[in-house]
Amino acid sequence: MSDPKLQEKIIAALKTVQDPDLHKDIVSLGFVKNMNIEGGSVKFDVELTTPACPVKEQLREECETKVKAIDGVEQVAVNMTAVVRPTEHSQPVLPGVKNIVAVASGKGGVGKSTVSTNLAVALSLTEARVGLMDADIYGPSIPQMMGIPVSPPKGGPENKFFPHEKYGLKVVSAAFLTKQGQPLMLRGPMLGGIIQQFLQNVEWGELDYLIIDLPPGTGDVQLTLTQKAPISGAVVVTTPQEISLIDADKGVKMFQQVKVPLLGIVENMSYFICDGCDKKHYIFSRGGGKTLADRFGIPLLGEVPIIEKVVEGGDAGVPVVMAHPDSPASKAYKVLAGQVAAQLSINQANSSEKVSADFELAWNTERSD
Ligand SMILES: Nc1ncnc2c1ncn2[C@@H]1O[C@H](COP(=O)(O)OP(=O)(O)OP(=O)(O)O)[C@@H](O)[C@H]1O
Ligand SMILES: [Mg+2]
Repeated sequence: MSDPKLQEKIIAALKTVQDPDLHKDIVSLGFVKNMNIEGGSVKFDVELTTPACPVKEQLREECETKVKAIDGVEQVAVNMTAVVRPTEHSQPVLPGVKNIVAVASGKGGVGKSTVSTNLAVALSLTEARVGLMDADIYGPSIPQMMGIPVSPPKGGPENKFFPHEKYGLKVVSAAFLTKQGQPLMLRGPMLGGIIQQFLQNVEWGELDYLIIDLPPGTGDVQLTLTQKAPISGAVVVTTPQEISLIDADKGVKMFQQVKVPLLGIVENMSYFICDGCDKKHYIFSRGGGKTLADRFGIPLLGEVPIIEKVVEGGDAGVPVVMAHPDSPASKAYKVLAGQVAAQLSINQANSSEKVSADFELAWNTERSD
C-alpha cells in the first residue's frame, strides 16, 4: 500500500529540484512520472526533453539524494528517460522530424562538416534518433567523413528514397545522386530542385534531430533551405582568427534576416594540445568565438581543440567521437551535442510560454470587452 503522506513528501522534495536550463522545478515541468511506492521502496521516472541533456546525471543524483533523505524512505530508484519535444513551425514540411538544426559558417574550411558529423553521432550516442543531411551540393564531404561508399539511395514508394544508414544515423548527400567521382553541374533553379528533393522526397521516418551541413557562405543553397525548410535553429561555426570571425558575423546576420533562431556559436580549432603535455596552446588567438557570441547575445556552445585524430577520423570515415570517444575533441563534441539539445528545449519552452501568455492576454482582453 502506498502511503499518501509519504507521496506528498516525495513530491514536495522533488519540487525543490530545478532544471537549470528551463528554470523551473521538475514537478511543475511534468517530468516526474510513474511513481511507485512500496513500503520504503520508491521508484519513479524523470522524463526529460532530450536524452542529450547535459545535466542528466546531476538531476538524477539530486532526486535520489533528496528523496533518500525523507523519513520512511529506504530505497530510491530514479529512471531517467526522455521524449524529445518538437519545435512548432508554421511550415510542416517534414512531419516526422521534430527538430532541424542547420550548421553554417561564413567562411569555408572552418570545420562545418566535421562539426555536423560529430554532433550528429554524439547526439545519436545518447539514443536520440538522428539524421544528417549533406546540403553542400557542390562539395559534399559527409559520405567520406561517415565512411559511406557513394551509391544511389534505395527507392521507396511515390518517387521517394531512403537515406543511407551508418553508425545509427540516417544520411543523405548530393554525392549519392551523382555517379562516383563526377561533379554535380547545376544551374540555379536545378539547385533549388535538389534541395526540394532532400526535403520532400526522403523517407526520413521519425527523427528527433536532423542536422544539416550547409555549404560555406550565404549563397543560394543557404537561402533556399532557410526559406523552405522549417529550421528549428542554426549553429554557426568559426575559428578563432579575426578573418573567420568577420565571415561568421555575416553568417549570424543571414539567419537573423531570415528569422531562423540562432542556437549559438561553435569555436573550432580553438586550441592545440600537443603530445605529452596537457597545456592548451592558443595558436591562433583566444576568445574570438566568445566575443562573437556576446556581440549577438547568443551562447558559445562549445570550443573544439585542434587534434590530429579529428582529421584522421574524417579521412578514414570513422568520426572521432566513435573512434576515440575519450579524446579532448570528442569530449568537446559531446558537450556541444548537449548544449545544442538544451538550447532547442529552452527555445521550445520559451515559445510555448509565449503562446500561453498570448492566449491569456487574448482571453483577458475578450473578457474585459
Ligand atoms: N578540430 C579539428 N582538429 C583538427 N582538424 C580539424 C578539426 N576540425 C576540422 N578539421 C579538419 O579541417 C579540414 C576542414 O574541415 P571541414 O571539411 O569539416 O570544413 P568545412 O567548413 O566543412 O569546409 P567546407 O567549407 O569546404 O565545406 C578537414 O581536413 C578536417 O579534418
Ligand atoms: Mg563542408
